[in-house]
Amino acid sequence: MKIGFSLHATLVAVAMVALLSSGASAQQPLKIGLIVPMTGPFASTGKQVDAAVNLYLAEHGDVVAGRKIEVLLRDDTGIAPETTKRLAQELITNDHAEIIAGFGLTPLAFAAAPVATEAKTPMVVMAAGTLVIPQKSPYIVRTSFALPQQTAPIALWAAKHGMKKVYTLVTEYGPGIDAETTFKTVFTASGGTVDGARVPLHNPDYAPFIQRAKDDKPDAVFIFVPSGEGSAVMKQFAERGLAKAGIKLIGTGDVVDDDILDSMGDSALGTITSHFYSAAHPSAENKAFVAAFEKANGGMRPNFMAVGDYDGMALIYQVLRRPAVRPTAINSSRPPRA
Ligand code: PHB
Repeated sequence: MKIGFSLHATLVAVAMVALLSSGASAQQPLKIGLIVPMTGPFASTGKQVDAAVNLYLAEHGDVVAGRKIEVLLRDDTGIAPETTKRLAQELITNDHAEIIAGFGLTPLAFAAAPVATEAKTPMVVMAAGTLVIPQKSPYIVRTSFALPQQTAPIALWAAKHGMKKVYTLVTEYGPGIDAETTFKTVFTASGGTVDGARVPLHNPDYAPFIQRAKDDKPDAVFIFVPSGEGSAVMKQFAERGLAKAGIKLIGTGDVVDDDILDSMGDSALGTITSHFYSAAHPSAENKAFVAAFEKANGGMRPNFMAVGDYDGMALIYQVLRRPAVRPTAINSSRPPRA
């Protein structure tokens, strides 16, 4: 995959060089603590992230700039920020991880951020997507995404295609609120009107929310749910007959993520989403990535989470290959915000 890093990512990466080169002996293995949900409702993210790391290591070797890379995988179950925080502390203190990485959901990245700050340990966010995450610690660099970037294009698309009224249905936490805010801002600036509701993150029952959306008689329902949740919401959309009532389903690509798309069957037909990645992208580079990923993982198709992780590994490898810079570089990054 091709990686293009933002200015903030580059600054933090420069700081990472300083930290990594000022720490443990260059002869010792470099341990990356990878914290992701391998079990629980968001296990699909952990599976994708783990598979992408393994693919990156298989393709690029496990020695970089003379240091052996050791990945220490930890399952945080996806639903307990205090578990993520404890795992981050243990990885740094007991296992001597020099980088912590992964973070499948925003609250988990938030929980680990103060640990990274306290321990002055680089933290590579490879999966979570709330806009403010990189501001939570000067030691964070993100290779995943931020919800506004994938939401604004579908809001513009809806306005351009004659939609006047959209009902937003988002999961009630950071990325959902980012998606809702961006959709509302862009769509209303184009003359549209927006109603909406938020669904709980844990154990959501989509049925009453989809019914409420239908009763509002919008041109479309805009949906954001975190990856792994798409099938459940799609099923309700189909069962309650919104498409038959002339209501379109639009959203971010999180709703139809490539990993679970096939399991949705025909209920996904007609859905229109905008996103930064699709396994179907026809570039030679992407085709090679998808083929290698599927081959290494019994046919599992990569989704956007795998890409954030593969790119995260590429970032780490590139940083390790750079010559060391003065340790003061870390101070040029922004201070953490509350
Ligand atoms: C997040 O919690 O930041 C998150 C998780 C899954 C997504 C998007 C955002 O698909």
